[in-house]
Amino acid sequence: MSLESLIANTIRPDVRSDKSYHVPDASGFVKLDAMENPYQLPAELRRELGSRLADVALNRYPAASYGPLKERIRAKLGIPAGYDVLLGNGSDELIAIMAATCAWQDRRAVLLAPVPAFVMFQRSAQVAGMDFVGVPLKADLTLDLPAMLAAIAEHKPALVFLAYPNNPTGNLFDSADIEAILRAQGDHGLVVVDEAYEPFAQQSFMPRLPEFDNLIVMRTLSKLGLAGIRLGYMSAAPALLAQFEKVRPPYNINVMTQAAAEFALDHVDVLNEQARLLREQRTLLSEALAALPGVQVFPSAANFILVRVPDADAVHAGLLSRKILIKNLSKMHSVLTNCLRITVSTPEENAAFLAALESSLTASLAD
Ligand SMILES: Cc1ncc(COP(=O)(O)O)c(C=O)c1O
Repeated sequence: MSLESLIANTIRPDVRSDKSYHVPDASGFVKLDAMENPYQLPAELRRELGSRLADVALNRYPAASYGPLKERIRAKLGIPAGYDVLLGNGSDELIAIMAATCAWQDRRAVLLAPVPAFVMFQRSAQVAGMDFVGVPLKADLTLDLPAMLAAIAEHKPALVFLAYPNNPTGNLFDSADIEAILRAQGDHGLVVVDEAYEPFAQQSFMPRLPEFDNLIVMRTLSKLGLAGIRLGYMSAAPALLAQFEKVRPPYNINVMTQAAAEFALDHVDVLNEQARLLREQRTLLSEALAALPGVQVFPSAANFILVRVPDADAVHAGLLSRKILIKNLSKMHSVLTNCLRITVSTPEENAAFLAALESSLTASLAD
């Protein structure tokens, strides 16, 4: 038996030729590449959380309804009255659940998104067996509404994904454009508004769920400060949400995540204050970046900033050599040529980044 032919005989060709999702090793770096909240919970709360977690019954499966956790999400995170939430192991899992649910086996099923977009939209579509259609953003990174509407008419997507604000560009699409897409989808397709960065945008379609039967709003606790526990949630009209519940793996949220999230939501003011500090830092960092020669700063409603520099590869390499990790988006899409994405962090880390950027820019211009 050869392992090579075993893999060739069993694993799908598109999976065999694909690469794993790459996460660079960040040890020893100032980590500004993954839109994490740099702040931990205060020490006193962490101690309290520790004793709560010590009491969690690890020998038991989670209570299947996740009642107390869902109740806190509904109450503290602005879910409309009469609407439930579906929980995911990060919003990554929610995207995969939606794609799996809408991937018909006997007819073409399409997931459509503006591009550049969050990479998991395309990956989840492909793994589920849906066709991915990407509609390029305009050069100013706004939605190309006529192109979106034409693509919707042509491809009749079961799912349209719109990140609001968008990753990796950081901007909020025009809400009137999103409404036009919701209307164009009508009762032929769903529109998922991915609000991963809502704590930094403070604008949301969540309260508008009752207006649109085909709207799904998805969020995560990751960017609010809990990326490590992996918890996402989505809401939609109850009859629609119930369909996705059938595909959600039972017990997908583990008891430690459940207990930690319940605890954190009981102290959500602490997380909201951290988000406020980061919004403040975003303004200061954007201004400092805009003052640097050769740096173009794009407006951000998220906890990261997109910039264009004269030579992104050289600047990225310069930052790496100065132990600063950010994301080089230059090769991701033509509208992102020479673009870099930087997570907004603490005043100290932002200052370290700015100093390293200045040196890297000077070195790249001298080359
Ligand atoms: C737009 C968007 N949606 C979803 C996610 C994934 O979030 P989670 O950590 O909940 O899987 C990210 C992560 O970067 C994102 O940028």
